[in-house]
Formats: sequence, C-alpha cells, structure tokens
Amino acid sequence: EASVKTSQRKTLSKLTCSPGQARIVAYKVAVLGAAGGIGQPLSLLLKMSPLLSNLNLYDIANVKGVVADLGHCNTPAQKETTQAKGKAVLDWDFLLNKAVSGFTGPAELADSLKGVDLIIIPAGVPRKPGMTRDDLFNINAGIVKDLVEVAADTAPNALINVISNPVNSTVPIAAEILKQKGVYNPRKLFGVTTLDVVRANTFVAKQKNLRLIDVDVPVIGGHAGITILPLLSKARPAIEFSTQEIEELTVRIQNAGTEVVEAKAGAGSATLSMAYAGARFAESCIRALDGDPDVYECSYVQSELTELPFFASRLKLGKEGIEAFVHGDLNNLTEYEQKALEALKPELKASIQKGIEFVNRES
Ligand code: NAD
Ligand code: LMR
Repeated sequence: EASVKTSQRKTLSKLTCSPGQARIVAYKVAVLGAAGGIGQPLSLLLKMSPLLSNLNLYDIANVKGVVADLGHCNTPAQKETTQAKGKAVLDWDFLLNKAVSGFTGPAELADSLKGVDLIIIPAGVPRKPGMTRDDLFNINAGIVKDLVEVAADTAPNALINVISNPVNSTVPIAAEILKQKGVYNPRKLFGVTTLDVVRANTFVAKQKNLRLIDVDVPVIGGHAGITILPLLSKARPAIEFSTQEIEELTVRIQNAGTEVVEAKAGAGSATLSMAYAGARFAESCIRALDGDPDVYECSYVQSELTELPFFASRLKLGKEGIEAFVHGDLNNLTEYEQKALEALKPELKASIQKGIEFVNRES
C-alpha cells in the first residue's frame, strides 16, 4: 500500500502547483472513433497527459469497454483543481474514473462534444494492401462530414484535428461543412500530418547516426504519396545528404504508410505510431491554447503559402490556433525539392477539389 501511495503522490506532485503559481490546467478533449486501432492507444496517451481534465470517447460501438479499461489507469487526466488557502488542491474524483467518459452512437455524439477545447477525429476505415488513401474516400468522406456537422453545432470554437484519410480531401470537407454552418475558423482546423514528420525524423536519425531527439525535418504538401514532401535541406541540425540519400529518404518517407499497410497484410494501417504522432500534435495544440509561446508543428491547413488552398507546412500555434506560418521553409528550396513541389500540386489540387465538390454535391 505504501508503494501505491508513493507512486500516486509522484504522479500527483507533478500536477500540484505551488502557491502563487497555482492555476487550473484543465482542457477537455473528445476523440471521435475512440474504439479503433488509432483511437484506443491515442486515448491512452491522452489519458496520461496532465494537461487534460476530461477525455470524451465517442464511437459507433465498443466504447464502454475502452472507458472501463482506461479508467483503471491512475494517471491524469485530473478532474479539476480548486483553490484552498492559496494552494491548489486536487479533486480526487479523477481517480474514480470521472475524467474519462464514453459516448456511443449518433444520439450521444453531441453530448460528447459539449464544452470541449479540442476534437480529434480518427474515425473511418483504414487501407488494405493495394489500396490508395483516396480509395477510402467513398466511406470516410461521409463519416467526417457527419461528425463535423455535429461538431459545428455543438463545439464551434474547438480546435479540430482530422486524422481520417484521405486527409488531403477530408480537411477540405470539414472546412466546407464548417463554412455552411457559418462557424469556419481556418486557424482552428488541422489535418494531422505529424506522422510524416515523426517518420522523417526517425529515418534521418537512423541514416545519419544521430540522436532521435535532436532531429527535426519539416514535411510539407499533403498526406499521400508524392504529396508528402520532406524538406531535407531544412532539417535540423543542418545535415549533408548525397543525391542518392535524398532520393531514397524522400521515397521512403512518402511510402512509409504503405510500408506499414503491407507489413500488416490486411490487418489495417499504422495505429501505434499514429497514436504517438496524434498525441504529440494534440499536446502541442493544448500547450498552445494554454499560452506556451514556443509551439511549432507541421500540419495540413488552409494556406496561402502556395496557390493551393490547403497545404501542409510548419506553423506557429497559439491561443487561437494558427498564429503564424513559417514562410522561410519554402524559400531557397533545392532543385530536387522545387521540382517535387511542382510535381505534387496537380494531385493535391484534385484531392482538395474532390472534397469540396463532395460537400457541395451532397447539400
Ligand atoms: P479502425 O478501423 O481500427 O478504427 C476506426 C474506428 O472508427 C472504429 O472504431 C470505427 O467503429 C470508428 N467509426 C467508423 N465510423 C464511425 C462514425 N461514423 N463515427 C465514429 N466512429 C466511427 O481504423 P484506424 O486504423 O484507427 O484508422 C482510422 C483512420 O485513420 C483511417 O481512415 C486511416 O486511414 C487514418 N489514418 C491516418 C493517419 C494520418 O497520418 N493522418 C495515419 C494512420 C491512419
Ligand atoms: C499513414 O501514413 O500511415 C496513414 O495515412 C495510413 C495509410 O493508409 O498509410
């Protein structure tokens, strides 16, 4: 019993603020598609974040089990802190499973979104070998549309992180729905491309024998095949690559999703690395909402960096979502990167158009 108390105290001590610094860090997050291959590990990682007070898990089936299971972890999210005699005091309710709540089926969707600061959408079908991400359009476009319609009505000010593929089209779909509902704020809608950055960092670090933690490669464009463009010339720390290395690394990063799909041989696509990447991006969003002045992430968003209306690039995140675009990343591209950028534009443009037309055709 002593060791349990000690480990709980260690967890709690991280959350307890000293007098004078006391403040409530209590963000509410909804995961839509929470019982899926990504949704479950993503929810676990979010449950471990001290920045969250409430985790609302929504799916069309199997949520109850996930909630019961996660609720037994004596990790944050913390429910609430209250002020008492200048000290922040934790509400122990979070240990009693109140911070994780389950919602099943369309009738409970709106309830899952009430008062949330961030909505993460990994709902939808994954690829099988031989499929492109665009082959998922027919099923996932409708799923994202239906979810965002309710999000627009219930949580119009929340940040939205879209994971469901094809991201190149599902983000424009979400934007059109939000516009139709009169609540579109382009600074708050994000396509999650963090996995491309995570992969680029991993592959480059391995290739060059660097510490994983030290490598940061911006990845721009979109999230499918050649629309994924790692800017190896902008990697940090500055790294020398041979022409062959650039070509091989670029192609590997572009095909990394397919690498996982083939290795899983019909059992789905990346889930664990995606959960890791999704949790990183969600934490960045929350840190930015909470006033951290130093939050930068790549994401696929409405953009004016190129002639395309949506484009992934490095962004500075702030209290209202996107605070600034990092314009410098597109300056002084190498000839290889410049050619690759021009080559990706027709495909990305077509995917954006397809998403926009889907919504306008349906309405
Ligand atoms: P999965 O099939 O394991 O899980 C999907 C979940 O969505 C299921 O639990 C299912 O019940 C749920 N769902 C289906 N329709 C729903 C609806 N209308 N409302 C709420 N939930 C619904 O799939 P997965 O492996 O978790 O992948 C999910 C999506 O994420 C796929 O489209 C996949 O291509 C995409 N993905 C994106 C990235 C990225 O980098 N952005 C990476 C990996 C996977
Ligand atoms: C990925 O990049 O792993 C995801 O987009 C899933 C997929 O279909 O490849």
